[in-house]
Amino acid sequence: MLEVSHVSKVYPTPRGPLSILEDVSLSLSPGDAAAITGPSGSGKSTLLYLLGALEPPTSGTITLGGQNPFALSPAEVAEFRNQQIGFVFQDHCLLPQCSVLENVLVPTLVSHPAASSDRQGSGGTDRDRARQLIERVGLSPRMEHRPAELSGGEKQRVAIARALILQPRLILCDEPTGNLDPETASTVSALLLELHRQQQTILIVVTHNAALAAQFPVRLELRAKHLLPCQHP
Ligand SMILES: Nc1ncnc2c1ncn2[C@@H]1O[C@H](COP(=O)(O)OP(=O)(O)OP(=O)(O)O)[C@@H](O)[C@H]1O
Ligand SMILES: [Mg+2]
Repeated sequence: MLEVSHVSKVYPTPRGPLSILEDVSLSLSPGDAAAITGPSGSGKSTLLYLLGALEPPTSGTITLGGQNPFALSPAEVAEFRNQQIGFVFQDHCLLPQCSVLENVLVPTLVSHPAASSDRQGSGGTDRDRARQLIERVGLSPRMEHRPAELSGGEKQRVAIARALILQPRLILCDEPTGNLDPETASTVSALLLELHRQQQTILIVVTHNAALAAQFPVRLELRAKHLLPCQHP
């Protein structure tokens, strides 16, 4: 369960406090998928940073699986993020010197560096799982390519596989199809929704793309600092 209760976010600035989010509440269960829309500057990325435990709320509470990440030590919160949350950013943030396979394995190295990527887990070794995910996103023939040797849509699919490798409870995507042509965008978003259904995670996607938002059962909009049901379905 993701529980967001009466959250606000105020950034201190030289001109005084800048209020971005007010009284935001949200409750999502495993298997839920929500799209968040809203004008540029309305606080969508800010909200994802809070949900991803990258930035603390100014007031209110956020819990994931009953745990409040902001009550943890910095080392514990890093582990919490690594284990429980998968991020897909618009600019995908792949490591340029690493292959597709190595990029997908990065979260497993942070999670248990001493054990190496050959650690045996429930679904085989991490390396086996990474290979399976790369196959699922249609990139088996590109396994050893570096990011510079991939198209934009292919990079985004690597980022999705990387976000899923540790089977997180929560997947947060900021404009996952923002840089893609409409056809590739719809392939990538269909893939994201299908993998989410299979893994029964909580999926939250921020997007300006109305067609993408329309595919989500829960549609929310940031308007005047508040998170409200979307008025333009
Ligand atoms: N660290 C910060 N300090 C002060 N103001 C900030 C900070 N980070 C973001 N803001 C402000 O908060 C507002 C919301 O930013 P945010 O990035 O969440 O918008 P967004 O809805 O994601 O917009 P876009 O659609 O353009 O990505 C913006 O006006 C921005 O200038
Ligand atoms: Mg943004």
